[in-house]
Amino acid sequence: MSDTVRIDGVQLEVAPGTTILEAAKLAGRWVPTLCFDERQAPFGACRVCMVGVEGSANPLPACTTVCRDGMNVSTEDPTARRVAGAVVELVLSELPAAPAPHTELAQVAQRLQVGAELRWPGAVHAVDHDLEHPYLAFQHELCISCGRCVRACDEVQGAFALTAVGRGFDANVAAGLDGGFLHSSCVSCGACADTCPTDAITEQLLLVGGNGNSAVAAGV
Ligand code: SF4
Ligand code: FES
Repeated sequence: MSDTVRIDGVQLEVAPGTTILEAAKLAGRWVPTLCFDERQAPFGACRVCMVGVEGSANPLPACTTVCRDGMNVSTEDPTARRVAGAVVELVLSELPAAPAPHTELAQVAQRLQVGAELRWPGAVHAVDHDLEHPYLAFQHELCISCGRCVRACDEVQGAFALTAVGRGFDANVAAGLDGGFLHSSCVSCGACADTCPTDAITEQLLLVGGNGNSAVAAGV
């Protein structure tokens, strides 16, 4: 038993329960993502993975939308791409420094051609570094609240050291009771740093060696 779907004109058979994002990957098509990590259950928080679906008035999130038999999907639907680009623009506009070029955020922005002319002037996050832990560094101002680190800590490692805190512009992640990694239940597994799409959480060694992040390089 399988469902037949078309992704950008490519017809394929997928197992029931397959998401549009999974089908797009099978079809060799790119969909931008920020809060998605294939090691974790889809979360549907960032709204960057929007795609056009025939018969749907609005773009749909590819990571959480399950394929239906006969579905016709466009990963390059202009409205969906506009939504994704606007979300990435807004996220970038809140950072005090551009994300390092190797990060997922920088790469998604580049591929969506977002960055040179930001439309969202306004407040940027204040620099706030937790550098006490011997292995892990947290540059809170680079956090885009995608939740991947929290889910990695909970679902993958079971350490429950990280918590999503705040709302809207003030949304961020706290380690322990907001006392930093060193004073939390962190077991130094590095799963949070491994999944973070912005290097907000990264390994201390990478900071010492220089990870290309201008905020850290400037010593702020
Ligand atoms: S620290 Fe990184 S992984 Fe965690 S919520 Fe912020 S951006 Fe996402
Ligand atoms: S990747 Fe789908 S909502 Fe974030």
